[in-house]
Amino acid sequence: MRTIKIFDTTLRDGEQSPGCSMNIKEKIEVAKQLEKLNVDVIEAGFAIASKGDFEAIREISKNVKKPIVASLSRALKKDIDIAYEAIKYANKNRIHTFIATSDIHMEYKLKMDKKEVLKHAVDMVKYAKKLCYDIEFSAEDASRTNKEFLYEILYEVIKAGATTVNIPDTVGYTTPEEYYHLIKGIRDNVSNIKNADISVHCHNDLGMAVSNSLAALRAGANQIECTINGIGERAGNAALEEVVMAMDVRKDIYVSKTNINKKEIIKSSNLISTITGSFVSANKAIVGENAFAHESGIHQHGVLENKETYEIMTPESIGKKENKIVFGKHSGKHAFINKLEELGYNFDEFRINELFNQMKDLCDKKKNIYESDIEVLIAKNLKLNQSGYKLKSFVINTGNITNSTSTIKLISEGNLLEEVSLGDGPIDASFKAIDKIIGVSFILKDYKINSLSKGKDALGEVSLILKRDNKKYRGIGMSTDIIEASILAYLDSVNKYMILKELDNNENEYDAKNISK
Ligand code: KIV
Ligand code: ZN
Repeated sequence: MRTIKIFDTTLRDGEQSPGCSMNIKEKIEVAKQLEKLNVDVIEAGFAIASKGDFEAIREISKNVKKPIVASLSRALKKDIDIAYEAIKYANKNRIHTFIATSDIHMEYKLKMDKKEVLKHAVDMVKYAKKLCYDIEFSAEDASRTNKEFLYEILYEVIKAGATTVNIPDTVGYTTPEEYYHLIKGIRDNVSNIKNADISVHCHNDLGMAVSNSLAALRAGANQIECTINGIGERAGNAALEEVVMAMDVRKDIYVSKTNINKKEIIKSSNLISTITGSFVSANKAIVGENAFAHESGIHQHGVLENKETYEIMTPESIGKKENKIVFGKHSGKHAFINKLEELGYNFDEFRINELFNQMKDLCDKKKNIYESDIEVLIAKNLKLNQSGYKLKSFVINTGNITNSTSTIKLISEGNLLEEVSLGDGPIDASFKAIDKIIGVSFILKDYKINSLSKGKDALGEVSLILKRDNKKYRGIGMSTDIIEASILAYLDSVNKYMILKELDNNENEYDAKNISK
């Protein structure tokens, strides 16, 4: 089995995707997580791009021990000098220099002819080699480059000292078959190719970045460049988790492995989502919320009998804790009874039927039914839902030159309760005011806004997760006003917490009574 190097460019190409910029602290946190994930190379940034990028690369070089730390640089002396300044503290470092080689890029972007580009590339690889042994050269837009010219420039840069040659599909234009032949052509026509690693770097404009990377691997590439969650320029880069798990699950086809610690995949994905605020879709392969969820009754029954009926990999293999079953319209009673037992309830048939019918009714109102919803259903059924906070009104004072203040009025058991709080923005202020009213505070674990309709007056749905005492409470709120939707979602979670707390207290009381008997 060959070992394929994983070159992670989340902090460079990934950060180039709109809205995904990270500050230095966040970048260091990501780099440390990438080290736990055991990537071979971390491309920490583009040192000349900004002072912040330079400092982040330098700090990562000092903080990360195992992976190679790389900085991107154009094929220009000043870029290479700065890149080296940023990576020089790393245990293992790499200068990654690039120049475009396709006719269209050379003519319109560089305004250079082939001869000039070739000379420039060779001179800059030689220049970089004086500073650093490990040099990666990228022929930007390689997949649209004239093949003879590509073979020639790769031969020359390897001769000049490049230790890795990267063949980017910069615009996400190639197809698996074409890319396979491109890599094979390089292996067959560049006589010194054995002296360098062949790297591939695919963009996802046609949705083929992962397939193209895997096709290249079969043709002999031994480094894949990718990003966590597939973030990156335009439609993104090949997703690391998809490349790695495809190789793992289909070892029979790819006959190769990576050094990746797969149990760190889900954590890495969550960290990137939280830091960038760019959450993956629920049906995203490997790391999406629903990637291991089974809704239909037939699937649920199968998975309960033998996971392999509908699962080609286990959630545990990527570090995901449970095989979460989301209930929905199509769920069967078998899985429902199983979930009740898992939650510790052994109800008689009558109550099970009651609860099952109520769960089905709930499915018509709510798309996804989570474990916590089932607990609430049980609690309500057991008539324990005596209280519940309802929103009466809220008043916000906010602006860009002042802290936000929120005044919240809630009704509980006929009483009017009111509190004011300052916060970091109107939503934070509102959540703090609610905490003051109920006298309990929570950790906000997740917060998402979805638009349920179109236009300026779109209905927004906020879903969030609050955590307290190691338990999670999911809440949903809907309104055309996102602050109101957020407050309603927060109250939804708070009310679930209250119900379950009441349920716990009653059970403890019941246990205590029974023990003392
Ligand atoms: O997509 C691309 O061509 C790149 C290079 C700079 C490697 O990101
Ligand atoms: Zn790229």
